[in-house]
Amino acid sequence: MAEPVTVRLTVNGVGHEGRCEPRKLLVDFLREDLALTGTHVGCEHGICGACTVLIDGVAARSCIMLAVQADGAEIVTIEGLMQDGALHPLQAAFREHHGLQCGFCTPGMLMTALDFLRVNPTPTEPEIREALSAVLCRCTGYHGIVKAVAAAAPVLAKRA
Ligand code: FES
Ligand code: FES
Repeated sequence: MAEPVTVRLTVNGVGHEGRCEPRKLLVDFLREDLALTGTHVGCEHGICGACTVLIDGVAARSCIMLAVQADGAEIVTIEGLMQDGALHPLQAAFREHHGLQCGFCTPGMLMTALDFLRVNPTPTEPEIREALSAVLCRCTGYHGIVKAVAAAAPVLAKRA
């Protein structure tokens, strides 16, 4: 077994330091070492998008990145979206527009959509569909998800 390495991360505004094997994936570090299990593990191959988090503001798949590679980064996970007990506007839009069923893909959908809306605050529907096409939803179909992202876009643009 390789010598453990130290990993320092800021996650949802809170500093964390941990020791783990150099080969530990970021998603496993978040879930197992920091108990932040909202980030889901699906394919573990960078395909499904379930494990998407924001790393220094940019959406990234935490199953194809080592924890040690994220050393020093600012990470936002799904647990970081609620503020003062209130749903983030994107979460509220998913609820209102039935953008989820089992919820497995939802954390990855939300983090992907957040980054997308940061880059493109006034998207067209085809642009939303294209942006979310890399996150696989096995149950709802994408209709409600696309509606939710479209509804949240102006709300988030106003906050920016
Ligand atoms: S679990 Fe990371 S992309 Fe599927
Ligand atoms: S809501 Fe079930 S996988 Fe998307």
